[in-house]
Amino acid sequence: MSEQPVNRDVAAHYDLLNEWGPSDDFYLGLAMSADSVLDVGCGTGLLLHVARTTGHLGRLVGLDPDPSMLAVACRRPDIDWVEGHLGTASFDAEFDLVLMTGHVFQVFLTDEDVRAQFTAVRKALKPGGRFAFETRNPGARAWERWSPEHGVDIVGERGERVRVEHHVASVENGLVRFSETHRGADWPEPVVEWATLRFATAAEVDALLRDCGFEVAERYGSWDRAPFTDTSREIISIARPGRPPAGRAR
Ligand SMILES: C[S@@+](CC[C@H](N)C(=O)[O-])C[C@H]1O[C@@H](n2cnc3c(N)ncnc32)[C@H](O)[C@@H]1O
Repeated sequence: MSEQPVNRDVAAHYDLLNEWGPSDDFYLGLAMSADSVLDVGCGTGLLLHVARTTGHLGRLVGLDPDPSMLAVACRRPDIDWVEGHLGTASFDAEFDLVLMTGHVFQVFLTDEDVRAQFTAVRKALKPGGRFAFETRNPGARAWERWSPEHGVDIVGERGERVRVEHHVASVENGLVRFSETHRGADWPEPVVEWATLRFATAAEVDALLRDCGFEVAERYGSWDRAPFTDTSREIISIARPGRPPAGRAR
């Protein structure tokens, strides 16, 4: 009897750890009402998969720099999958809606990084298009729950049992550095990935959007569209390109 290889591919476990939830319902509603959608940092592409299955007939594009995530996404061929970053993709006035879901915003650690992304998003949008994304509100201190006692157990596609735990190494100047450890019962050693995420305040998000010519059309603190407060878990923004500054040619 041949043994199945042990699956230590973290991307293959992503959808088990991040099951469909209220945030996906929120973004699916936006996607279904837009003819053309770009999902920046699409990961395993679940949102666009469900949009297509739900009957979206227009252009759906998923962009992600991680080939292992896109390898999962590509299982559905009726969507355009692009490996790379917004800066290299150079979309120009092509989309009615640009999304950044699953806290992708937080991987951009400096104001310069964020401005570069927002500028590229603005360029990718058609006139009148919308840009929707969320970031965790620092006021809710989510990182305090990223500890081994809040770990989860999952069962992978091949029946493998995997324990996933987080550990925060530092919280400094709005940047949280942490590890994610995947430990399989019969793996020789765990897989440990390190990451740093930015926790920007709503005021910082707004200033960065303004710098790049966006205005916030809608702002929520949770996926049921409750208003944002200082202790909301999320800062959810739907932004539109604003009017160009007076005197600038259109
Ligand atoms: C937490 S996952 C979110 C995936 C998906 N959007 C979701 O909601 O489940 C973050 C994703 O951002 C991607 N990412 C990292 N750096 C990026 C960049 N510079 N541009 C676009 N995506 C990036 C990662 O490869 C990863 O797939």
